[in-house]
Amino acid sequence: MYFRNKNILLGVTGGVAAYKSAEVIRLFKKQGADVRVIMTESAKEFITPLTLQAVSGNEIHDSLLDTKAESAMGHIELAKWADIILIAPCTAETIAKITHGRADSLMGAVLLASNADIFIAPAMNMNMWLDDSTQNNYKTLLKRGITFIGPAEGEQACGDIGPGRMEEPDKIINLISSSFNSGPLANKTITVTAGPTREQLDPVRFISNNSSGKMGYSIAEAAIEAGAIVNLISGPVALNANSKINLIKVNSANEMQESVMDCMKTSDIFIGCAAVSDFKSSDISDTKIKKEDISKIDIQLEKNEDILANVASKYKSAYVVGFAAETSDVVNNAKKKLISKNLDMIVSNDVSDKAIGFDADENEVNIITKNESIFLKRDKKIRIAREILNFMSLKIN
Ligand code: PMT
Repeated sequence: MYFRNKNILLGVTGGVAAYKSAEVIRLFKKQGADVRVIMTESAKEFITPLTLQAVSGNEIHDSLLDTKAESAMGHIELAKWADIILIAPCTAETIAKITHGRADSLMGAVLLASNADIFIAPAMNMNMWLDDSTQNNYKTLLKRGITFIGPAEGEQACGDIGPGRMEEPDKIINLISSSFNSGPLANKTITVTAGPTREQLDPVRFISNNSSGKMGYSIAEAAIEAGAIVNLISGPVALNANSKINLIKVNSANEMQESVMDCMKTSDIFIGCAAVSDFKSSDISDTKIKKEDISKIDIQLEKNEDILANVASKYKSAYVVGFAAETSDVVNNAKKKLISKNLDMIVSNDVSDKAIGFDADENEVNIITKNESIFLKRDKKIRIAREILNFMSLKIN
């Protein structure tokens, strides 16, 4: 399920190999992707929109100037929706248009508006491929960071033998997945928690803490850099997550626990960085508690579930990492949590120091396992996150 939660936009242009696009869609979907298709008018001469709609399960997009289509999912929404854009087959004409930044078609406009990774699987007669114009366009697009898959060599529809055939669908899918797959955590799915939780007392008041989410979001970002598929379950914070992260927003510890348990069904690693509220109100008032009616208020608190300990006990094959927010005897107290919660690793930070820990841009931590304790000196949270994941990947690989 390498493409789980990934949005793939497939552009199909007019070539004999267009019939293979149905198989490309099928393979992406098998790997968990949601696939949408843009067809050029000439593509429809080779394969019907109905076929690609049936295989993808989504309506086909084919027009830039269709008011109905633009109001549903227009070119800008499509451009933002896509994590990966693949054009397969891609004709010489489309390659030329992309090179010149033409926006007179839906495909051209989407490509200009998108930040997604772009892949092109060319398909054309060998002489068209080898022609100077196409070769110059190809080199220009390579310099812009577009990845070409193929063309393959072999017998062509016209009878010529040489480079110009569209690569086979399984090879296209494998090459795209391996291009995202090079880090030390490639093929691993990681679930990370970040931020505080909010435990409501009434509709407007809650118990929470000062976690900004910066440490957890940095862990999630570093995990993406390391090639992992990342679920980030975040309490309320004022941060944006990388679009490659599967972000799930929650409020309370109960909601966080529910999402974590769901994500752990398909995860290899859990990193609990959230500052989960240890307690919640036993009785959440449906209406705002009126301060005029009372001079004193007794709030009955009960313990929240320990999400980290629950993950470690339920998902025994997962690698489970906790964070420990300590104010004294940082290493020893964290080690007690490592043992009592049955963790593989714990990262301790001294949250009494205002320059690190809660709501700071930097942190200073100890990475602790049953046999080791490694000190990471004060640094930006993203660098600390990278070091933690590097250390962890050595343990699991
Ligand atoms: O978000 P920032 O502003 O960047 O701050 C980062 C941080 C200080 C919040 C972070 O580095 C950190 O220390 N996170 C853990 C905070 C915490 O709750 O520590 P703890 O020692 O109370 O809990 C130990 C572990 O148990 C943690 O992994 C925690 O997520 C987990 N836990 C705790 C209680 C609970 N009910 N369920 C849990 O899963």
